Amino acid sequence: MTDHLDDAIGRRRTFAIVSHPDAGKTTLTEHLLLYGGAIQLAGTVKARKAARHATSDWMELEKERGISVTSSVMQFHYRDHVLNLLDTPGHGDFSEDTYRTLTAVDSALMVIDAARGVEERTIKLMEVCRLRATPIITFVNKLDREGRDPLDLMDEVERVLGMVCTPMTWPIGMGSRLRGILDLVTGQVRLFTARGGERADAGELLPDIDDPRLAEVMQPGEYEALREEVQLVREASLPFDLESYRRGELTPVYFGSALNNFGVQELLAAVVAHAPSPTPQATETRQVAPTEPAFSGFVFKIQANMDPAHRDRIAFLRICSGAFERGMKVRNVRLGRQLALHNALTFMAGEREGAQEAVAGDILGIHTHGNVRIGDSFTGGEALKFVGIPDFAPELFRRARLKDPLRSKALHKGLDQLAEEGATQLFRPLISNDLILGAVGVLQFEVAAYRLRSEYGVECQFDAVNVATARWVSCPDARKFDEFRRRCEANLAEDANGELVYLAPTMVNLQLTVERWPEVTFAATREH
Ligand code: G4P
Repeated sequence: MTDHLDDAIGRRRTFAIVSHPDAGKTTLTEHLLLYGGAIQLAGTVKARKAARHATSDWMELEKERGISVTSSVMQFHYRDHVLNLLDTPGHGDFSEDTYRTLTAVDSALMVIDAARGVEERTIKLMEVCRLRATPIITFVNKLDREGRDPLDLMDEVERVLGMVCTPMTWPIGMGSRLRGILDLVTGQVRLFTARGGERADAGELLPDIDDPRLAEVMQPGEYEALREEVQLVREASLPFDLESYRRGELTPVYFGSALNNFGVQELLAAVVAHAPSPTPQATETRQVAPTEPAFSGFVFKIQANMDPAHRDRIAFLRICSGAFERGMKVRNVRLGRQLALHNALTFMAGEREGAQEAVAGDILGIHTHGNVRIGDSFTGGEALKFVGIPDFAPELFRRARLKDPLRSKALHKGLDQLAEEGATQLFRPLISNDLILGAVGVLQFEVAAYRLRSEYGVECQFDAVNVATARWVSCPDARKFDEFRRRCEANLAEDANGELVYLAPTMVNLQLTVERWPEVTFAATREH
């Protein structure tokens, strides 16, 4: 049994794709799934993307949520391996969800548009990856279009993202002159044919760069230039080092065109060959190894209305150790309560199926009725608390104003539940009965208003409020903290978990307060 478990866990690869919008994440996801045999899903990913463009339309938003159920976690098989691809929301307004999802993966694929290089959202996402030293594989996409010089792009990744780049493949030409891709490890060359996303491996495979077929498809002079370039690249780049990659210090770089299904198979092979299988996870007390037989995991995301037909909420749990069995009892460590997992879901090939076998690295979907929170740890019995699941200080604030005062109870309940899901953050000032919502993107308020109306029957409006930013406050010196509480009461609030938060009307006010109270810590992120 243990051997079986070790083997099953060793074959898991749990990863996410990070990119700036339009770099090609959706297209790449579709093609990865095609290799994994989940062909029926391709349309789903597209449909979801279409819905995303119309986020201001509520029906569309609902539809998007419905569709994203099946593509939130995509499990597929490739070469004896089980891959869990965790989707991250495309819309920047839901970036908190993305950050938390990154805490549940063991590695990430970074997609870069060859013409645009490293873009703003990629930089933000990579900062989150860096906090956890997440190993990154880089894919330079859209080679079928004119793009920037590959050496230049790698230089930018090194400079901006602070990782050493090791090219694993090398483009032969670009745009209309794209001839193929050279595998710098095996020396093989795959010739380019625009296949428009068919399943078959695109292009003829040549054993090496000396093959006369290559010179045939190239213009006079191109071939010689390529040989020189390849020699230069080989001399100038550091060899791939698995340990540096696993520590997040080095990124292997692959080139291709997701749209043409070109270079995608090499990328998938790299995930299987190099990306780590489930890694140990930190708790407050000890590291938990994935192969420990006892079950454990943590909740990194909660999604409501997964299935529009049943207004359910699903908590996504990353299994950190052991295996899941149907009907098994697990303990919610925060509540000290047992829960029987009868109808937990796994996400095989995008279909929600009754979970059969799920082991460390896999994701479970647990039905909840409001008693599970983001960051909750579940175990077979041990009082473990997984750490590192962040809340970020919101950047936008609004005061909730009820249209019908008699619905106050429903409003409180609704806002509490939305906060539990991490859909918005909720702050209750110490000196008033206000309810202040915090969000990272303005769309989150629209979603909150919509959901309060449709799920809780509450008509409510969000007004501007004089808060610029929030910081979680703490202080080891109880007496000093008491004094701080008294003096700053007008700016203090409790979050949904009862933690104390300083709500600053301006950044200058925050700065002055920080200077005035050197003993107090003002944190922009909070771990669950
Ligand atoms: P995203 O999820 O990262 O936002 O990007 P997505 O895959 O939706 O790709 C953004 C656009 O880039 C799409 O075009 C897509 O077809 C195109 N694209 C992706 N990969 C490649 C590639 O390798 N080469 C080229 N030339 N284009 C690529 P669109 O016009 O916005 O959408 P669509 O109408 O094609 O779906």
